Amino acid sequence: MTSASSAPCEFSNAPDWVRHADLRQWVASVARRTQPERVVWCDGSQEEYDRLCNDLVDVGTFIRLNERLRPSSFLARSNPSDVARMEDRTFICSERKEGAGPTNNWIEPQEMRATLERLFEGCMRGRTLYVVPFSMGPIGSHIAQIGIEITDSAYVVVNMRIMTRMGRAVAEWLGDDGDFIPCVHSVGAPLPPGAKDVAWPCNEREKWIVHFPETREIWSFGSGYGGNALLGKKCLALRIASVMARDQGWLAEHMLVLGVESPQGEKTYVTAAFPSACGKTNFAMLIPPSSFKGWKVTTIGEDIAWIKPGQDGRFYAINPEAGFFGVAPGTSEATNPNAMKSLAANVIFTNVAMTPEGDVWWEEMTREAPAKLIDWQGREWAPGCGRPAAHPNARFTVAAAQCPSIDPKWEDPGGVPISAFIFGGRRSSTIPLVVESAGWEDGVYLGATLGSETTAAITGKVGVVRSDPMAMLAFCGYHMGDYFAHWLRIGKTVKHAPRIFRVNWFRKDANGKFLWPGFSENMRVLSWIVERCHGRAQAHSSPLGLMPRFEDLTWTGLENFGSQKYAELSCVDASGWTEELSSHETLFRRIGPQLPGELERLRARMVSSLTA
Ligand code: OXD
Ligand code: MN
Repeated sequence: MTSASSAPCEFSNAPDWVRHADLRQWVASVARRTQPERVVWCDGSQEEYDRLCNDLVDVGTFIRLNERLRPSSFLARSNPSDVARMEDRTFICSERKEGAGPTNNWIEPQEMRATLERLFEGCMRGRTLYVVPFSMGPIGSHIAQIGIEITDSAYVVVNMRIMTRMGRAVAEWLGDDGDFIPCVHSVGAPLPPGAKDVAWPCNEREKWIVHFPETREIWSFGSGYGGNALLGKKCLALRIASVMARDQGWLAEHMLVLGVESPQGEKTYVTAAFPSACGKTNFAMLIPPSSFKGWKVTTIGEDIAWIKPGQDGRFYAINPEAGFFGVAPGTSEATNPNAMKSLAANVIFTNVAMTPEGDVWWEEMTREAPAKLIDWQGREWAPGCGRPAAHPNARFTVAAAQCPSIDPKWEDPGGVPISAFIFGGRRSSTIPLVVESAGWEDGVYLGATLGSETTAAITGKVGVVRSDPMAMLAFCGYHMGDYFAHWLRIGKTVKHAPRIFRVNWFRKDANGKFLWPGFSENMRVLSWIVERCHGRAQAHSSPLGLMPRFEDLTWTGLENFGSQKYAELSCVDASGWTEELSSHETLFRRIGPQLPGELERLRARMVSSLTA
């Protein structure tokens, strides 16, 4: 490494830019336990990144893509047992079971610590222990948090360099006594002396993603993939941060943040929470249809938002991440031209297919598949062979700064003021195109009762509605009932609480065809939401809240989308809603006595207004 230090393992080789004695000691203690071959402190430089990428090519983890077609980009193929986040292997080990609540897996902390002792004892033998100082949020922002990830995976280091602000500048900002969140990761595959490494080391027998919310620690073992291993993302920025946010009076949410700019230059920022696989990245990078002349959508973030009350009585949001770890399949010039442009160079692709020319391909990237490919497992592939070429959860890792729609304020340490919270899911029936809540509490109800149909990328089962409150089911680090209470409370702490909306782009007709044209046309709904925030658009009461009538939305450029179709998209059908409200009841029962009474009262009110 250039300025990073490496030395045989006496564990005291921290460079002089690490002044934090507790950090040095903690690294030494983890190294003593895990017994790596060497310890490397990562400085985050381009030289270090290039060198690690070359090393990954040498060991077969990375394939360098065609330099002309996809400059400075790499393809990794994971072990088939290690392709996605694993919710059933994710644990919130709060001191009391009650703390984790009914929607999280819980193991008694002492028992979990004993398991971790066993797992981590000598687990890095034959490997390098990398120390990765990282900041979630712009370095120096009062909203940002520092984490230190220890990992034995160079793949994780290079991904963390894209996904976070990483390296020496973070350690310097930490100083000699700053707070950091310790995150320990191992692929769980020690290398015996003289053994040849595999391209994707992981532990095929056991995987654990463990959080201790009270001590704010993260331990991950056995997986090298995505949110299981890039610990700044779901583990820190959502599960641990949600606990910090509850304790400190802010919000850590599974939300994109985007800006809408009018032709007159008026800027409105909104956040949107959608469960995984509902097109969050596409929405965050939306290009308005040509009939919205002069309108622009800009991107602050596409997965996570940290939101704090500001002194002016509004909420301010930052994107704690510095990159996108997006799902590749389905991304195309038609669905997301801005993402496709972002992916032109400097990208790490994982589990996509490779063309004979050494470029990448995935399902729906082009209308027709190439005649020949190498699939995500390195096997020959041809159209019609009966297997997908890319894994459905194949990913790209790319710097947010490469996105053409990135907002000029995306790194503003103070964040951007939020005018609306939007909740949306993938629902083929029942949920109308857009509803605005009558107030904060009703809005919390809309978010709390969010549900979405599952897709292959997440569960392997398709089309089953899963309750996913605020899209946080897999990411809330504490009791869901307390989380709802926190939401109800925090809205009262700001003078100008954002308006809250629920959207559904996925409603289908009787023939199973999507009713809404989607993608850039979502701008029609978004612009109505923005106009509502400024008090300029009409809305009408319905049993679910406030809804636009056909004439309240802008239809220029989409003249053949008639009021009949709109009526189908926004109808509130009684039998669907009876079923929907009973699913809310099931969720509320599962949450139990910690469910805030307001939400049950709102449910009862909806039952009576829908049956009236
Ligand atoms: C993600 C997810 O990976 O939500 O962002 O699953
Ligand atoms: Mn996500």
